[in-house]
Amino acid sequence: MKAAIIRDYEAAVVIDELAKPALADDSVIIEVHSASLNPIDNILRAGYLRQMLELSFPHVMGYDVSGVVVEVGSDVKTVKVGDAVLARPNQEDAGAMAEFARLKEDEVAIKPARISHTDAASIPLAGLTAWQALITKGQLKKDDKVLIHAGSGGVGTLAIQIAKRFGAYVATTTSSKNAELVKSLGADVVIDYKTEKFQEELKDYDLVFDMLGGDTIVESFKVLKKGGALISIKGEDTENLAAKYDVRFENFFMSPDGAMLTEIVALLEAGSVKTVIDSVFPFEKVADAYDQLATGRSVGKIVVNVK
Ligand SMILES: NC(=O)c1ccc[n+]([C@@H]2O[C@H](COP(=O)([O-])OP(=O)(O)OC[C@H]3O[C@@H](n4cnc5c(N)ncnc54)[C@H](OP(=O)(O)O)[C@@H]3O)[C@@H](O)[C@H]2O)c1
Repeated sequence: MKAAIIRDYEAAVVIDELAKPALADDSVIIEVHSASLNPIDNILRAGYLRQMLELSFPHVMGYDVSGVVVEVGSDVKTVKVGDAVLARPNQEDAGAMAEFARLKEDEVAIKPARISHTDAASIPLAGLTAWQALITKGQLKKDDKVLIHAGSGGVGTLAIQIAKRFGAYVATTTSSKNAELVKSLGADVVIDYKTEKFQEELKDYDLVFDMLGGDTIVESFKVLKKGGALISIKGEDTENLAAKYDVRFENFFMSPDGAMLTEIVALLEAGSVKTVIDSVFPFEKVADAYDQLATGRSVGKIVVNVK
């Protein structure tokens, strides 16, 4: 099969021939139609997480897929050949940026016919991250005030919509060029991080969802009320500010979850959440897609149509 690979850390992303993944009893093989990119792809490629997660080469890029099941393992009960599915595969089965991918049964959600593979592939990693930060870790409730940083990114665009769906009042940070977009997704307060200081504009928030790390974490404690929570996917509370401000801090890595992904897909199908796609590339232009990701300026998700 053709796969988008790197042959070393910091190497260019190229398309090459690799063996198809082998079927396992608890897994399915899908023919990949679309795959989306996430910052983690380039972070791994640069070798920044080497000590935690050593890559073996050739390494197939990509974590997010949508495609059609072509083989089913002997223990699989809920998915059959011909089903259209989406998933964020586990670490062993990612790379997804290839003609075929292996997914565990409990990682997949069924793709409704009215959602395209391009849209479906944009959802899993970012959608699960947003849900796990806001709902699982953040315990967001109706009428809570939540600050979502980087509201125009892949995670942020979904996080704003999920928070609104749960009845929250949402503030978000973005640059002015994306202000209208985040308002259209439901943001009640938009802070232009280039000209305004969110910590001077907001107070008594129940929850902050941080995806920027560093000073953003330090400053975000100031907008929380006592008993609030700061959930980060990017960094640590290195100064133990959670204790000082009497709030809860948690930093976490998202994890695959087919049942949770099914709930997110239901919101999409109902029209209460929509995808935001920055750009779509054909498979042969996959290297250009990774260059776009590296700008850090994408509005929503970058998708590669593999098939
Ligand atoms: N721990 C985990 O499990 C996990 C999971 C997913 C993602 N992440 C991390 O979370 C981060 C966000 O991921 P993503 O997929 O959303 O990235 P992304 O789509 O590449 O984010 C790009 C967006 O970030 C915005 N942005 C950049 N700097 C900003 C700032 N200082 N303030 C406000 N907005 C800013 C940009 O808006 P402008 O162009 O307007 O600046 C752009 O729209 C990444 O660092 C990623 O590695 C971690």
